[in-house]
Amino acid sequence: MKKILLILLPVILIIGIAAYQIANATTQTKIGGLMDKKNLVAYFSWGGNTKSIAEKIHSQVGGDMFRIEPVTPYPSDYNETAYGVAKEQKDKGIHPPITNTDISSYDVIFVGTPAWWYTMAPPVMTFLAENNFEGKTIVPFITHGGGGGYTIDKDMAGLAKGAKVLTPFVVYERGDARTDKDIETWINNL
Ligand SMILES: Cc1cc2nc3c(=O)[nH]c(=O)nc-3n(C[C@H](O)[C@H](O)[C@H](O)COP(=O)(O)O)c2cc1C
Repeated sequence: MKKILLILLPVILIIGIAAYQIANATTQTKIGGLMDKKNLVAYFSWGGNTKSIAEKIHSQVGGDMFRIEPVTPYPSDYNETAYGVAKEQKDKGIHPPITNTDISSYDVIFVGTPAWWYTMAPPVMTFLAENNFEGKTIVPFITHGGGGGYTIDKDMAGLAKGAKVLTPFVVYERGDARTDKDIETWINNL
C-alpha cells in the first residue's frame, strides 16, 4: 500500500501542476495578461480613421504596429475605390496581394479594418487568410460610416484558422472625445 502511494503521489502532483498551468494560461489569453504577451497592432486604413484608432489602441497596449499594405494601392478618389476596385474585389471574393507580413513572433494581434461593403476590407482578408494564426488571439477593431461592425469579428474567425477572436471595438469614423476612455474600458473587459 505504501509503495503504491509512493508511486501515485508524484503522478497526482504532476497532474495538479499541469492543470494549474493550463488554467493559468487560459486566463492569460483572456487579456488580463495582455501586457505580458507580445502584441502587434495591424491595421488597414484608406482614409485615416482606422489608423487613428490603431494609434490610440497602440498607445495603450504597446508592442509593435504596422499598416497592412496592398501591393497595388487603392485609388485616392473615393468613388473609384468604393464603387470600383473595392466593390469588384468584394463581389468576386478577391484577396488582393499584400506586402510581406510576419506575425509568427506575436501572441496577441489587434486587427483593425474599416467596414467595407458590410465586412472587412479585402487586404485584411488576405492578411488573415495567408498567415498562420494557430493558437493566436485576434482582437478586432472596426471603424464604420454608420453601419456598425456587422459580423466582421465572425468573418475574421472564419479566415484566421485556429485563432481565438475576442470582442471587437466598433466605432463610428474616428471616434470622438470619449474614444480613449472607451478603448480603455473595452481592453479592461476583454
Ligand atoms: C469601399 C468602401 C466601402 C464602405 N462600406 C461601408 C459599409 O458597408 N458600411 C459602413 O458603415 N461604412 C462603409 N464605408 C465607410 C467606412 O467604413 C468608414 O468611413 C471608415 O471609418 C473608413 O476608415 P478609413 O478612414 O480607415 O479608411 C465604406 C467606405 C469605403 C471606402
